[in-house]
Amino acid sequence: MQFLVISSSPNIDGLTAACAQAALAGIRQSGSQAQEIRLNDLNIGMCEACGNGWGTCLNENRCQVLDDFQSLHALTLQADGIALITPVYWGEMSESAKAFTDRLRRCEANNRQGSRLAGKPVLVVAAAGGSGNGTVTCLLSMERWAQHVKARVFDLIAVNRWSRDYKLETIRAAALAMAAPPKESLED
Ligand SMILES: Cc1cc2nc3c(=O)[nH]c(=O)nc-3n(C[C@H](O)[C@H](O)[C@H](O)COP(=O)(O)O)c2cc1C
Repeated sequence: MQFLVISSSPNIDGLTAACAQAALAGIRQSGSQAQEIRLNDLNIGMCEACGNGWGTCLNENRCQVLDDFQSLHALTLQADGIALITPVYWGEMSESAKAFTDRLRRCEANNRQGSRLAGKPVLVVAAAGGSGNGTVTCLLSMERWAQHVKARVFDLIAVNRWSRDYKLETIRAAALAMAAPPKESLED
């Protein structure tokens, strides 16, 4: 199976990056494949709210703003599950996470054939490396996003500077559990 670990911090060696590494390790430990995507390395702009509020996202389930969103949208649809890992900014997900998830939601939440993310497991991590405040509001909006696209919320994990060590282990274990093949598929 193939999983995406999507992180959204500009720092390559901060708390968010450590959380992403833990998720990658857990997925690979399960025997599944994991691909890391750093949103801040990509060019994914904001939703432009085309037309009178809806554009091709509603009628064609694709975004008409041409940038790196297109290829990541396709990768997301192919993946068996996703780990979404964001730093907490002002009690919310970071701007790069918001830009990507907003556009993905528009393409999938109202898909008349049904969301292509329906039932896919999503592991959500909010890394609050400053005061430690704001993880609950951040996770709340990410849970709501997952519900809009009809993904299956596998777990919601809050991390701060004090919980770092044991939460990195929790993230690894959660990613392993998410990516582990279902028990019945192990049987002949
Ligand atoms: C604009 C901005 C807002 C932030 N807001 C919060 C916050 O609400 N709570 C918190 O604990 N940390 C906050 N931080 C700190 C970040 O969560 C994080 O520790 C820092 O950006 C480094 O993240 P990284 O090491 O995960 O990349 C904020 C940082 C920035 C840049």
